[in-house]
Amino acid sequence: MTDSALLSPDLRLDADWWRQAVVYQVYPRSFADSNADGIGDIAGVTSRIGYLAGLGVDAIWLSPFYPSALADGGYDVADYRNVAPELGTLDDFDAMVAAAHAVGIKVVVDIVPNHTSDLHPWFAEALASAPGSAARNRYIFRDGLGENGEQPPSDWISHFGGPAWTRLPSVDGVGGQWYCHLFAPEQPDLNWDNPEVREDFKTTLRFWADRGVDGYRVDVAHALAKDLSWPLRSKPTLEDEGVPLDGTDPLYDRNEVHEIYAEWREVFNSYDPPRTAVAEAYAPSERRALYARPTGLGQAFNFDLLKADYDATAFHDVITFCLNEAEKTGSSSTWVLSNHDVVRHATRYGLPAGTDYDEWLMTDGMQPAVDVAQGLRRARAATLLMLALPGSSYLYQGEELGLHEVADIPREALQDPIWLRTENTKKGRDGCRVPLPWDSAGHSFGFGSGPAHLPQPAGFSGTAVAAQRGRAESTLETYSEALRLRRQLQTVEELSWVETGRDDVLHFVRPGGWHCVSNFGTEPVALADGVVRLSSAPLVDGMLPGETTVWLTEWPVD
Ligand code: GLC
Ligand code: CA
Repeated sequence: MTDSALLSPDLRLDADWWRQAVVYQVYPRSFADSNADGIGDIAGVTSRIGYLAGLGVDAIWLSPFYPSALADGGYDVADYRNVAPELGTLDDFDAMVAAAHAVGIKVVVDIVPNHTSDLHPWFAEALASAPGSAARNRYIFRDGLGENGEQPPSDWISHFGGPAWTRLPSVDGVGGQWYCHLFAPEQPDLNWDNPEVREDFKTTLRFWADRGVDGYRVDVAHALAKDLSWPLRSKPTLEDEGVPLDGTDPLYDRNEVHEIYAEWREVFNSYDPPRTAVAEAYAPSERRALYARPTGLGQAFNFDLLKADYDATAFHDVITFCLNEAEKTGSSSTWVLSNHDVVRHATRYGLPAGTDYDEWLMTDGMQPAVDVAQGLRRARAATLLMLALPGSSYLYQGEELGLHEVADIPREALQDPIWLRTENTKKGRDGCRVPLPWDSAGHSFGFGSGPAHLPQPAGFSGTAVAAQRGRAESTLETYSEALRLRRQLQTVEELSWVETGRDDVLHFVRPGGWHCVSNFGTEPVALADGVVRLSSAPLVDGMLPGETTVWLTEWPVD
């Protein structure tokens, strides 16, 4: 099978498809379950390709579907070149790609290069091998500090809480070595100084490209290269604190990481069309461009919009900054409001600015109370604004239904390693990973004909796909209409701001006369001139209500 044989002629021609794509993130275990075992699967995704085509997305990105013990929702990969048996087979995967391509939807897979699962054969081999062996050198094993090696080799900390080191048990009275894991202990970090590791990942990239995959989302892209010189340097904080701008942090955003992506770029460009990639890189914003440049991964997420308060000035500044950055590299900007790692944006916007979401989750979402209607109203307005911006928009499954975070999952049902690793002081991310409601009634609201692996709230009945489809102005229909119009109005990657005379109203226009006006305030404002194409909430007496976005054109369109 050759890659181009799988692609329809128009897909082959359009090497720039990613620049202004709408990419829909599928979290496979929670999307659709085809065989009633409570776990979403690849055949489930295939069964809903029609839905995704109807919604109008350009591509789907699948979070990891590889064999995994699920110590971190699949981001602990035991075999990079296979499908988890509970999710299907490689044949199922090929069928899904074919179904997606048949309707013009590209497929992006998640590559997790910073760490494997502890069940990966390499790690088993490392454990069975002696300190200093080639098998151990694929990971980061070190002797401990202190008289008996009883202290971790450095002060590095895990994102999920606790030290980033775990000690192996003693053998014959000799104390074990420690291994590094920036995430859970079940996610040992790879040693990217090792050429064998580098080669193996290129094999993985080719494996999926040869199966017709169009691009990759690169997990934790900023952490692969580490300063492993001995003694290890101190780094008692996570990457969002104090990473220097010169690329010399011991762990994060090191200059050397780009040597890896330059090699990957050669692999991407050996395909026609070139495979694409987007970096999940928590790097200082000034250095994101290094990941996004065409000689690197080509595009990088920015989470600036996701982190911004619902505030006109904040949005304006983020948009201006990100568009400038994109222009510098020749990449296109990315925009994200929700993903599988954060509280859903409908909920964030219904909470007071400054809310600590971890603390809020610990109250089961009671304190402070969520203003559900305000949250959804703002979410729809922010989404419509985002979808009018130049660049790619990444949507997270269920946001098109206006789903809220499920904050009251019973504690015994929680799966996120954050819950265990923080000794039950932080719940983690399960609340945005609850299986999708497709039907208003029945087993797991149509997620499958069996149970759901995380409990769904009763309120899912009213937000299900079936309850919204065909209902004018439902969140689902608003998303579909936005994506349809976006295709029609899409234009070069530019915008100009239009002065509104108000701090709380943003207005920009795209070349060709596609206007987007967003009222972040609470009072209605007069509408700009033009033909109203779509609004995130009904207009009132010809005015643009508060917390509402409208699209206008200077001419009528079909
Ligand atoms: C990324 C993923 C997150 C995962 C982590 C470790 O941040 O988005 O879900 O836990 O990497 O792989
Ligand atoms: Ca299943």
